[in-house]
Amino acid sequence: MANVLTALQPSGVLHIGNYFGAIEPMVQLQETNTNRLFIVDYHAITVPQDPAELRKNILFATAIYLAAGIDPKKTLLFQQSRVSQHTELAWVLNCTTHMGELERMTQFKDKSRGKGEAVTVGLFDYPVLMAADILLYDTHVVPVGEDQKQHLELARDVAERFNNRFGETFVVPEVKIREQGARIMGLDNPENKMSKSAASEKNYISLMDDEATVLKKCKSAVTDSGTTIAYDEARKGLANLLTIYSLVTGKEIKEIEKAYEGKGYGDFKTELAGHVSAFLKPIQAKATALLNDETHLIKILDEGATKAQELAEKKMQRVRSVIGVQL
Ligand code: TYM
Repeated sequence: MANVLTALQPSGVLHIGNYFGAIEPMVQLQETNTNRLFIVDYHAITVPQDPAELRKNILFATAIYLAAGIDPKKTLLFQQSRVSQHTELAWVLNCTTHMGELERMTQFKDKSRGKGEAVTVGLFDYPVLMAADILLYDTHVVPVGEDQKQHLELARDVAERFNNRFGETFVVPEVKIREQGARIMGLDNPENKMSKSAASEKNYISLMDDEATVLKKCKSAVTDSGTTIAYDEARKGLANLLTIYSLVTGKEIKEIEKAYEGKGYGDFKTELAGHVSAFLKPIQAKATALLNDETHLIKILDEGATKAQELAEKKMQRVRSVIGVQL
């Protein structure tokens, strides 16, 4: 049994990229592993957040995970800020992580562009808090989308350096990136990943988009001037749509290509939208019902926090002891 762990930021928009990159793999892995899944609210505040919105988004993310099939009896589900050992370990790791390592992080470079000296220390330090998230729980496997690979490599380096200096303390985690669905691209720009912070809503399909919106977004998805429905890495827009089609229907790409022989983009996009909506509907219905009972959601997060605190405190006692602050 492996210790599997992943986390997502609470955001008003969770999109199908988040779902296929991280949520669905966790649902599958919870049957045979020790799963930990949490909502990284302290990562979210590395960029400005409206407090009332943030609270709503934490509950929304919780509802989505449960609606997607996360079972709190099988997966330890909690809120990062409730387990103060995450920020405590981040501080300790700050003291062994090099500025140069963090300056190389492409996500930091992207998010800090144009901000000059006003970029926050929190945004810079984001990957160290993420390393702490992972290392606190003796994590073997971290399922994430492709964009988090560099952060995972840093977490491994941080763990190895700490172990070399203070003796075996942390498990060095492995990254798990699924073959298909690890990088869902933006519908309006298939050169870049689908992202909730994209300039246009046409970039992503939110897990809560209604049928009409999904249809509009699929129809306006950027494709090329080709006429066949055939998978080709060079035809990025179409390749992305075929990937999404395959993920929501469970059909092989070859099978989908065959079904669309002699048909064009119009039919393909309309039917893709139908499949996406059919896939999302049960998740949306469950999430909406769950959101009507905040007390229930808070109770699940409370129970998760209590269990997570116990695990995290055990590891922190070891860390405090090996670095010499435990008297
Ligand atoms: P976040 O909240 O940006 O994204 C959550 C997960 O969704 C994946 N993802 C995608 N997968 C496929 N296609 C896409 N277009 C796409 N966009 C996002 C991300 O790779 C991620 O797996 N830093 C993390 C949160 C985090 C974390 C951790 C993850 C904090 N601590 C510890 C793992 C372990 C993040 O910002 O994810």
